[in-house]
Amino acid sequence: MLTLVTGANGQLGKTIKNLAKHQKISDSFVFTSRDQLDLSYLDNIQSFIESYKFDLIINCAAYTAVDKAETHEKEANLINHLAVKKIAELAQINSIKLIHISTDFVFDGLKHGLYNESDVTGPLSIYGKTKLAGENAVLSIMKYNAIIIRTSWVYSEYGNNFVDTILKLIQKRDELNIVSDQMGSPTYANDLGQLILNIMNSDKFISSKKASEIYHYSNEGECSWYDFASEIGNISRIKCTINPIKTEDYPTAAKRPKHTLMSKKKISQNFGLKINFWKDSLKICMRNLLTKPISNKN
Ligand SMILES: NC(=O)c1ccc[n+]([C@@H]2O[C@H](COP(=O)([O-])OP(=O)(O)OC[C@H]3O[C@@H](n4cnc5c(N)ncnc54)[C@H](OP(=O)(O)O)[C@@H]3O)[C@@H](O)[C@H]2O)c1
Repeated sequence: MLTLVTGANGQLGKTIKNLAKHQKISDSFVFTSRDQLDLSYLDNIQSFIESYKFDLIINCAAYTAVDKAETHEKEANLINHLAVKKIAELAQINSIKLIHISTDFVFDGLKHGLYNESDVTGPLSIYGKTKLAGENAVLSIMKYNAIIIRTSWVYSEYGNNFVDTILKLIQKRDELNIVSDQMGSPTYANDLGQLILNIMNSDKFISSKKASEIYHYSNEGECSWYDFASEIGNISRIKCTINPIKTEDYPTAAKRPKHTLMSKKKISQNFGLKINFWKDSLKICMRNLLTKPISNKN
């Protein structure tokens, strides 16, 4: 089985590459960074994909700059929607299975309770709208053989993410103000990456023709960004006062949904998963990050 992973320099792409290396299965993957396969050139996607005989594509690439997307809609739409549509068309024509990653930002965050996969969407940002357009393209082109995984608040040992940012800030500052009225669930990229490898190895997806499905996945539990930052402070034991603030006091270009907790019942039941609690996974990631010495505040 040969699998293409796009966005190989991103958090999830790097995580899957690392997991594949440790599990000694790298030979069955082709990992592409933007340099090797730039998804903004739609014609190149076709020539690249058709120059191999892929069985599966895992699309980790995305335009993820949520605030920048507000003023760069064309670019965000090209990667999050039109390139995804092209990938789905090629997957459909060439009988390739597809795992595509999407986001909780397809919701407006106004639901009281957990979001199910069939709940009505209502993205508040350009990023959310373009990601939703990508989902819809996959589902309309591929009636079978595609899985869309909506995830949230992804962090990892790689690249810029909330954990890395807060860790750097608490080393530099004595006080931080963090939004406490947006609730969600963090996702450790390593847990998501391992889930994807498990799905790849599952007969339920790979060896059978199944109707395309959306699944929700994050770590278990819920928190605000303030809770998340406070836990990073607790685990690191670096002294820094973290104050809760309201969304209105931290204006951003893109509007963010206030409450995007997603039910993971469907993915847990279908793939027999036990999902890690967010604080447990955060500890593991931070242990890896903190092996680098922490400098004193100056
Ligand atoms: N991060 C989150 O909090 C979060 C939350 C919910 C859902 N998601 C979704 O999860 C998936 C993985 O996210 P992530 O956190 O791994 O994102 P990431 O770290 O930003 O990685 C995205 C990757 O996509 C690549 N990319 C962007 N434009 C490209 C293009 N034109 N051609 C080829 N590659 C291109 C980027 O390349 P460069 O490295 O060259 O820029 C980057 O390596 C995405 O679908 C994202 O929408 C993420």
